[in-house]
Amino acid sequence: MSWLEQAVVYQVYPRSFRDSDGDGIGDLAGIESRLEHVAALGADALWLSPVYPSPGVDMGYDIADFQDIDPLFGDLAAFDRLVASAHGAGLRVLMDLVPCHTSIEHPWFAEHPDWYVWAEGDRPPNNWVANFGGPAWTRDPGRGRWYLHSYYPEQPDLDWRNPEVVAAMQDVIRFWLGRGVDGFRLDAIQGLLKDPQLRDDPPATGAFGLPLPEEYGRLDHVHSANAPDVGDALASLREAAGDAPLVGEVYLPAAGRRPYLDHVDVAFAFELLHAPWDAASLRAALEAGAGGGAAWVLSNHDFPRVRTRVGAENARAAAVLLLTLPGPAFIYQGDELGQIDAPGPGTRYDRHGRDGCRHPVQWEPDARTAGFTTGEPWLAPVDAPERNARDQAGDPDSMLELYRRLIALRGKLAGELEPVDAAEGVVAFRRGRHTVAVNTSPAPAHMPVEGAVVLSTHAGAGDAATLVAHEGRVVG
Ligand code: GLC
Repeated sequence: MSWLEQAVVYQVYPRSFRDSDGDGIGDLAGIESRLEHVAALGADALWLSPVYPSPGVDMGYDIADFQDIDPLFGDLAAFDRLVASAHGAGLRVLMDLVPCHTSIEHPWFAEHPDWYVWAEGDRPPNNWVANFGGPAWTRDPGRGRWYLHSYYPEQPDLDWRNPEVVAAMQDVIRFWLGRGVDGFRLDAIQGLLKDPQLRDDPPATGAFGLPLPEEYGRLDHVHSANAPDVGDALASLREAAGDAPLVGEVYLPAAGRRPYLDHVDVAFAFELLHAPWDAASLRAALEAGAGGGAAWVLSNHDFPRVRTRVGAENARAAAVLLLTLPGPAFIYQGDELGQIDAPGPGTRYDRHGRDGCRHPVQWEPDARTAGFTTGEPWLAPVDAPERNARDQAGDPDSMLELYRRLIALRGKLAGELEPVDAAEGVVAFRRGRHTVAVNTSPAPAHMPVEGAVVLSTHAGAGDAATLVAHEGRVVG
C-alpha cells in the first residue's frame, strides 16, 4: 500500500467544520483557516465529505455536478488553495467520490436518461426497498417509467453496466487527481451493480451482521446490491485512480467486504463502530477487521458519535482502542474534543434523522456559535461551551491532548495485532513490544501484561497490576 497504511485520517464534514463568511455554514476557506488544528493533532490526511454542487437533499451526497464546487463552500480556486495549504501543512486530501447515484437535478438525468436504471410498467418491477425506507423505485412523471434509487428518490442510481457511465466517472477521478487530490473515499460501493434481471430480493433470514434500517433490513439484498460482477466496476475506478489510495465504504460484514479489497486499499470495518462497549463484542469486532484491509472508525456523519454511544466514561478508552490498532484510523471531526450528539429526532435537515451527529465543531467557549461562525450556525452547538478546541489545547487532561498523545505514539507501535487473554471486561492485544488494554467495565480489573506505562487514560490512578474502571492503557 502507501502512505495510507498506518495513516490517521481526519474526516471533515464541511458544513460543520468552520464558517469563514458568516452565513452559518462551513466552507473551504474555513477549513483552510483551521488546518493547523488537524496538523497539530498529528493527522496525516483529511477526508472531505462532498463539496460538489448539490441541492442538499442528502447534504451533498446528492451531486449535481461532479467537477465543480458548491457556491456554499467556495469555488474551484478556493479548493485549489485548500489542497495547496493542506499539502503545505503535511496533510493529504481524500475526496469523497459518490459513484452510485447523482442528484435528480444533475443534467445527466435529463440529457442521458440511459445512464440510469429504468423499468417499464404500471408498477415497480420488483420489491426492492430504498436504504432510507420506501420503495427503491419512483415513477418519473414526464417519462412514465420507473427509475431506481437506492437512497432518497432525489438520488437516481447510475447504471454501471453502461460503459458511458464508467467513462464519465473515470473522468471525474482524473479531474480531481489533476487538481492534486491524493485519493478517494468511495461512497456506498456495495450498491454499484445490481441484478440485470431485476429479480426480487428474498426476505432476510439470518442476521445481516451490521445494523440496518428496519424496513431495509427485512430483505436480503442479494439482487439490489452487491452483484457478483461488482469487481468489473471497481477495476475501472482503480484504473482511473492509478496508485492513489481508495477507501471503500462497503456496508457489508467482513466476509462480504473481502472481494472489494481486490480493488480498494481498505474498507471501513463497521463492526467496530457498531460494537456495544463490552469486551466480548469488541473482541469480535477486532477479529472481523483482522487480516488486513480494515479502515478503523468509531464515528462518522451517519451514526451517533462515539461518546454518545459508549458513554462519556468510556470515551477516552475508545480513543485508545481506535488509535492503537494496526491500519488506518479515521477520526470524525469533533470526536477529538469529545463532542456528543444532539438529542431529538435529528430530522430538521436530514429526513433520515442524522442531524444529531452533524453539529458544528466547537472551537471557542461561545454558547451561541462555539466560534464556528460569526453568523447563525445552521445547526446550533450541542456541547457545553467549555468543551472547545481553544481551551483543550495544552490542557493535559483534555480529550484533545489525549488524541495528540495517542497519535504521536502510533509511530512507535509496530507489528500486527496479537490478542492477549484478559479478565472479563478487558480487551487486550499486543503490538510488538507494546500491550494495549481497555477496561470496558465499571469496576477495576486485572491488567494482563505488566510493564512501564506509556500512556493511560487515568494516569496515576491504577497500579501496575490493576486497571481502574473504564481505563485504557498502553504499556511497553
Ligand atoms: C453513504 C454516506 C451517506 C449517504 C449515502 C448515500 O452511506 O455516508 O451519508 O447518505 O451514502 O450517498
